[in-house]
Amino acid sequence: MVEGREILLIVTGGIAAYKSAELVSRLVQDGAKVSVVMTAHASNFIGPATFEALTGRPVLSEMFLPQEHFRGEHIGQANRAELVVVAPATANYIAKVAHGIADDLATTLALSCTCTMMMAPAMNTDMWNKPALQRNLKQVEKDGVKIIAPGSGWLSCGLVGMGRMADAEEIHECIIKQLRSEK
Ligand SMILES: Cc1cc2nc3c(=O)[nH]c(=O)nc-3n(C[C@H](O)[C@H](O)[C@H](O)COP(=O)(O)O)c2cc1C
Repeated sequence: MVEGREILLIVTGGIAAYKSAELVSRLVQDGAKVSVVMTAHASNFIGPATFEALTGRPVLSEMFLPQEHFRGEHIGQANRAELVVVAPATANYIAKVAHGIADDLATTLALSCTCTMMMAPAMNTDMWNKPALQRNLKQVEKDGVKIIAPGSGWLSCGLVGMGRMADAEEIHECIIKQLRSEK
């Protein structure tokens, strides 16, 4: 199901970014062709070298580096992708996508992709409960984004509550289900 499929993984700046490495590994083991784009803040949580080693592809973050804008990668990545997965999806990223903001490579790709987009939100409970976050989440869902719901559990801030990103295994299953439904 996943063999040879082009998946674009967007990693944003949350603690749960470490789980995305396992997700990438699972997809690559399935035979998927995975590209990773990171926001600038994501690199505070995990390094591009991890994803480059796992995917065998360069990780892009910047829109205006010569080798990237020359090839038009702000659109190219979106055109090639058969599925875009955002994991973790920060409150900030969800807000930007909900409002059509495209002020970096990761948000520009969200605005220019034509395939299905899935998001796995990850944040602490206070952020999760904010009316603004819930509003933005409803908006992106209304716009067609498939949400992989977070669960309740241990959060890095030391609390137990809602907002914990789904585990790599669950996100992997959702991706397979989605690709199967589109075959
Ligand atoms: C230690 C630390 C952990 C964070 N974890 C999260 C998180 O899990 N979810 C979230 O929405 N924001 C989190 N943030 C805040 C984001 O990094 C911040 O909103 C940032 O602007 C997100 O940028 P991006 O969406 O472009 O990656 C965290 C910040 C710090 C310093």
